[in-house]
Amino acid sequence: MSKSAKLELGEKTIELDIIEGTEGERALDISKLRAETGFITYDNGLGNTGACLSNITFIDGEKGILKHRGYTIENLCEKSSFLEVSYLVVNGKLPSTSELEEFTAAIQKGSKIPEGVKTIIKSFPKDAHPMGITSAAMVALSGFYPEYLNQDLSDQQKKEIIPLMLGQLKTIAAAVYRHGQGKDLIEPNNNLDYVSDFLYMMTGNEPNKEVAKALDVLLILHADHEQNCSASTVRVVGSSKANLFASISSGIDALWGPLHGGANQAVLEMLSEIQKDGGGYEKFIEKAKDKEDPFRLMGFGHRVYKNFDPRAKVIKAYCDVVLDKLNVEDPLLDIAKGLEKTALSDEYFAKRKLFPNVDFYSGIIYKALGIPTNMFTVMFALGRQPGWIAQWKEMIEADGMRITRPRQIYQGKTDEKL
Ligand code: SDX
Repeated sequence: MSKSAKLELGEKTIELDIIEGTEGERALDISKLRAETGFITYDNGLGNTGACLSNITFIDGEKGILKHRGYTIENLCEKSSFLEVSYLVVNGKLPSTSELEEFTAAIQKGSKIPEGVKTIIKSFPKDAHPMGITSAAMVALSGFYPEYLNQDLSDQQKKEIIPLMLGQLKTIAAAVYRHGQGKDLIEPNNNLDYVSDFLYMMTGNEPNKEVAKALDVLLILHADHEQNCSASTVRVVGSSKANLFASISSGIDALWGPLHGGANQAVLEMLSEIQKDGGGYEKFIEKAKDKEDPFRLMGFGHRVYKNFDPRAKVIKAYCDVVLDKLNVEDPLLDIAKGLEKTALSDEYFAKRKLFPNVDFYSGIIYKALGIPTNMFTVMFALGRQPGWIAQWKEMIEADGMRITRPRQIYQGKTDEKL
């Protein structure tokens, strides 16, 4: 394969370097295109545009492969904990025993949130969407930890702020839930592991091992996903040298949308609507296919995966295990499985390579764990935060980091006069 490509534009021919990744992906380097030709590229939704070089996560959408720092997601779910995977995506290697102990202790130390942030959470109406409160609480942390407001953090400051963020969001998420339930907030219990402490702060009880393990796996499955909408948002905001609190808060905001992380809530609402409608999902599949109908099959389709989302496979298998262990019967699981089977055998979905994604089954498990539907996307954020932090850290540490500022093709009016 040649290391460059020729581009002919009228009389001009330029050479574009070809960049090849370690997993065989290839890109045309167009960094000098405008300077040399006056042309820019146009790519609606940026599905054909690489925004960065990264060592964190690799996805092969055609083969349904997801790896973090070279480890497959299946291997990590089986052999690692969420904190180990968090350490891996952020630091590039799995922690030694002593590194994990130090990381865990720093997260526990960072789990107590400022009283002022509790006041902000409690100032929201009880029925406010948890994602809005979570985003507000996250950016509010910037007022309580001013020592971390610049982006030129020392290595020691990064070592402090990263576990602090993981600890704070865990407690914020539980506090947001308690507020929505009209209950008092519960302080972190440092005798518990990360997930057990989250569940303890949610319910006031120490969870059983099965529940904690199930949630730990779910958080691993959400840890990072290369340049998805929210991770790209974190990078864009961070590229202006905004602080980590602001960058993560913006990631939470981007994740909220039903086309992205908000889909897990939308899937449960869709399954519940199908159940209320008598369980006939065929009607909903026809609606999803109807171009005149804005309805989409939530939890189906993906910009990158044109085969099964490997995370959906793990979660689907886990549904049966968790519901069985918790002795929970959920008719929505049967509806989901029937919906999936029927959709996958339908030409419309097959032709467009639309498969279940990470959000299609995750809500079934969250529901079985007693987590309310409007908290599902907060759970996604809790899982994704290590990935956002890893992407932000990789960006600020990259040589030649520049502010993200895309161009456009103007199509508006040209010669107006007052
Ligand atoms: C996440 O990017 C990531 O990595 C995200 C994520 C992560 O971990 O960060 O994986 C998490 O966000 C998963 C996706 C969650 N969203 C949903 O489940 C919402 C439902 N899915 C879609 O809205 C859609 O599939 C997207 C948003 C996920 C992807 O949209 P694209 O890539 O822009 O695809 P598209 O809209 O161009 O669709 C291509 C075709 C269109 O039909 P035609 O115009 O070609 O006839 O497929 C159709 C679409 O209408 N289509 C769907 C559909 N998804 C796509 N039709 C019905 N139901 C759907 N769900």
